[in-house]
Amino acid sequence: MVGQHRLAAIAALLFAASSDAVPVVSEPTTTLFSAAATVPPTVSHTNVTSHGPYDGPPPTTTGALSTEVLAPSIPALPPGPDAYKYPSDGQLHGAQPAPYTPSGGLGTNGSAPVYRMLSDFDYESIALALYQEYIELDLFHWGLATFSEQDFEDAGLTAQDRYLIQFMAEQEVGHATLLTNMLGPQAPRQCTYNYPVTNVREYIDFCQKLTRFGESGVYGFLNHLNARDVGQMLLQSISTEARQQMVFRQFQGLFPMPVWFEVGTPQSWAWTLLAPYISSCPENQTRLIWQNFPAVYILNQPNPVRVNGADAWNETTGPWTNTLSTQDVDVEDDCLATDEVGEGCHPAVTNNRSAPLSYAGRQVFLKWDDPGQAVGPNNSYVTDTTAGTPAFAAWVTQLNVTYSPLQDVKDNSAWTVQPDVSTYAGDPAINGTMFLVLTDEDIYVTPFNISMMNPHVYGVALYQAG
Ligand SMILES: *[C@@H]1O[C@H](CO)[C@@H](O)[C@H](O)[C@H]1NC(C)=O
Ligand SMILES: *[C@@H]1O[C@H](CO)[C@@H](O)[C@H](O)[C@H]1NC(C)=O
Ligand SMILES: *[C@@H]1O[C@H](CO)[C@@H](O)[C@H](O)[C@H]1NC(C)=O
Ligand SMILES: *[C@@H]1O[C@H](CO)[C@@H](O)[C@H](O)[C@H]1NC(C)=O
Ligand SMILES: *[C@@H]1O[C@H](CO)[C@@H](O)[C@H](O)[C@H]1NC(C)=O
Ligand SMILES: *[C@@H]1O[C@H](CO)[C@@H](O)[C@H](O)[C@H]1NC(C)=O
Ligand SMILES: *[C@@H]1O[C@H](CO)[C@@H](O)[C@H](O)[C@H]1NC(C)=O
Ligand SMILES: *[C@@H]1O[C@H](CO)[C@@H](O)[C@H](O)[C@H]1NC(C)=O
Ligand SMILES: *[C@@H]1O[C@H](CO)[C@@H](O)[C@H](O)[C@H]1NC(C)=O
Repeated sequence: MVGQHRLAAIAALLFAASSDAVPVVSEPTTTLFSAAATVPPTVSHTNVTSHGPYDGPPPTTTGALSTEVLAPSIPALPPGPDAYKYPSDGQLHGAQPAPYTPSGGLGTNGSAPVYRMLSDFDYESIALALYQEYIELDLFHWGLATFSEQDFEDAGLTAQDRYLIQFMAEQEVGHATLLTNMLGPQAPRQCTYNYPVTNVREYIDFCQKLTRFGESGVYGFLNHLNARDVGQMLLQSISTEARQQMVFRQFQGLFPMPVWFEVGTPQSWAWTLLAPYISSCPENQTRLIWQNFPAVYILNQPNPVRVNGADAWNETTGPWTNTLSTQDVDVEDDCLATDEVGEGCHPAVTNNRSAPLSYAGRQVFLKWDDPGQAVGPNNSYVTDTTAGTPAFAAWVTQLNVTYSPLQDVKDNSAWTVQPDVSTYAGDPAINGTMFLVLTDEDIYVTPFNISMMNPHVYGVALYQAG
């Protein structure tokens, strides 16, 4: 295919170069014209016109997709038999399959990649990513359609900034098409959505938070996929998403990347945070296996529109992403109203925030819902947990999961203290847009086995640490 396209393109070039009908261009002399190669179609999508909570009939199917369940959790095992086998000494230890080619690797033996799912794990993970691409596609268009040019200008965002948001929406069309093509005919389709925002600054905050769990949700499963060829394609889309997340932080006047590593999370955390914003999906929509954990409310979620972002109480528009609310912020506390270096938060490549949004030792107040609540498309999923009463807050960021004990646990509420933890010297781990998860145990996990936390997870939220 590729070869044919190239030939066609070369033929077109030759033809163009020798044809009288070709427009003559004098400068630069190297400019030639070539017919575009066949353009593959995109997946069918529309600009969704209906938004808002689901108010249709009760769903006919409820709960996550499931089959025979073999055990309540996966037992922890020691490292695999070959884990320590390779000497890792800088020398070569196998014959080279070809010049300049080391032995080993996966998918390196010449078998043609086919970009198909190889397991339920693959299908469910990529289908989740597709739900995410579709909400982003709608969200980016929706903001442009909903808020006026003046609204954007008031938030410091110009026509060029709006064009970037539009371009991001177009990127999502490509991502949705790619994932749909790899999943096949039963791939989930575009749904309708509801967003917890009423103005541009809340919208940008929501975009910044939604792309955070979109990105991290993929990092959590990417290296666990059976189909590494599929993983390659997904990686090349999620790298774009990572850039989107950073751009939205910059639009919000936050420091673009206050961490050394981006965190990866289990799929069920992404689904927990995504599903509540989906109102309804089409008939016969392919369902997902992932868990919806109960909602967590961060009562003093730091508010990036404040000069002193840590000085916020009850300033979110709801649980899950815990997106900021601008409602109670007076002009003297508003970081858009000042040009002071370290205080102002005008959209910029970077801004110092001299008063950190959060810091080690900060008391954080939390509230959570009971399980058993209907959420997600057509209210057809049900929140669930296998954890007992929450006893810890897990601060999930960069390479670390750090637990702080919950204090005064009563009536589904508690407080805790932000721990002081670093990845490596010079990099405080808790910063940026990160995950705050309630658990009943402080179970030890590392980035590649973080989903082993799930049986102990009670609820999931995003915390705005910086
Ligand atoms: C959706 O709306 C955007 C403008 O917000 C427009 O550029 C785009 O063409 C529309 N897409 C479709 C599929 O109608
Ligand atoms: C090459 O590796 C693939 C897995 O990537 C495997 O399915 C296939 O059997 C291997 N082929 C050969 C010739 O060893
Ligand atoms: C969800 O609700 C919409 C609107 O009422 C309906 O058209 C659709 O068939 C429902 N989807 C499912 C999967 O039940
Ligand atoms: C849904 O699936 C049923 C059974 O397979 C089929 O009869 C119906 O046409 C499908 N509806 C849509 C909208 O695809
Ligand atoms: C938070 O504010 C909402 C209204 O904006 C109010 O209903 C709720 O009681 C407040 N919660 C707390 C804990 O102050
Ligand atoms: C920005 O913050 C860093 C770290 O706190 C500090 O070293 C630097 O001086 C600040 N720069 C400005 C221009 O405020
Ligand atoms: C988070 O990172 C920013 C940018 O480096 C820094 O200004 C801020 O102090 C950091 N916060 C904490 C708590 O370390
Ligand atoms: C955080 O993760 C890094 C990298 O795995 C590790 O070196 C460090 O010890 C961890 N910090 C804590 C306090 O667990
Ligand atoms: C996760 O992996 C670490 C080693 O990286 C191991 O010590 C820990 O026990 C594992 N956790 C679980 C719950 O399996």
